[in-house]
Amino acid sequence: MIDGYADRVESEERSRHAASFGAAAVAYAEHRPDYARDAVRWALEPASGRRVLDLGAGTGKLTATLLAEGADVVAVEPDALMLAQLRRTLVDVRALSGSAEAIPLPDAGVDAVVAGNAMHWFDMAVAGPELARVVAPGGVLAGLWNVMDDRVGWVAGLARIAGSAVIGPRDTPTGWRGEVAGIRVPEADGVARFGAPEQELFPHGQRRTAESLVATLATRAGMLVMPEPEREATLGRIRDYLANRPETAEGEFVLPMLTCVLRMRRSPRL
Ligand SMILES: C[S@@+](CC[C@H](N)C(=O)[O-])C[C@H]1O[C@@H](n2cnc3c(N)ncnc32)[C@H](O)[C@@H]1O
Repeated sequence: MIDGYADRVESEERSRHAASFGAAAVAYAEHRPDYARDAVRWALEPASGRRVLDLGAGTGKLTATLLAEGADVVAVEPDALMLAQLRRTLVDVRALSGSAEAIPLPDAGVDAVVAGNAMHWFDMAVAGPELARVVAPGGVLAGLWNVMDDRVGWVAGLARIAGSAVIGPRDTPTGWRGEVAGIRVPEADGVARFGAPEQELFPHGQRRTAESLVATLATRAGMLVMPEPEREATLGRIRDYLANRPETAEGEFVLPMLTCVLRMRRSPRL
């Protein structure tokens, strides 16, 4: 069946992207941006306690900000290489192997689940009931996405040059709203466990040079799964673009970014 085939290819492609990060774990830890502190604060603000699960924690970028905000964090990550990198950097954090579809925590074990640039990889049909299971009544589920601010002219140009395989629609503020609003936690057992999502954008920036921005973009899933010749050609186009823009040609600059947050509250009564 055409539809079944298309669904399968899409889901295989998604799995390939979702599992691509480990091969670049060290570069990921070095070059990916941190999250805006006020975004993390806003995500956690309605939670009834400090126990936070960082789901799809990767190398621990968001984990570090959660710790700085005083959260009692457990990190869960499916990729062994990403998890190893997190354990090397954040030696005191409880870090477990697991996924959104099989969370290694007890029922109502945390007051908040947060996911940094990871929720779009979850299979929500399976993960939704798992999320509802581990978040305590009155708790919070929040997705955070760091995106490049393409409302700035040279960033929009960079997004065009890099192409949608590298910088997808959800990686820009305009694309983000529609795309992420499509992520819903399904009703578990016919009971709506989470309220309507709220969304906010928090501007911040990452200090980069042309070289380190190329290194950052090289850690994106679309780039990691690209065949080598195409990857080299894409990186070459990006290098040329950055070398020819007055904003990025010389020395250090600030890459304008936004942390986009989607948060949902779990009913206190269920
Ligand atoms: C773009 S990285 C983000 C890592 C980290 N949260 C950060 O902010 O830097 C996406 C992470 O999601 C993880 N991931 C992919 N599929 C997942 C799933 N089904 N459940 C949990 N994590 C998943 C990947 O292994 C990867 O570490």
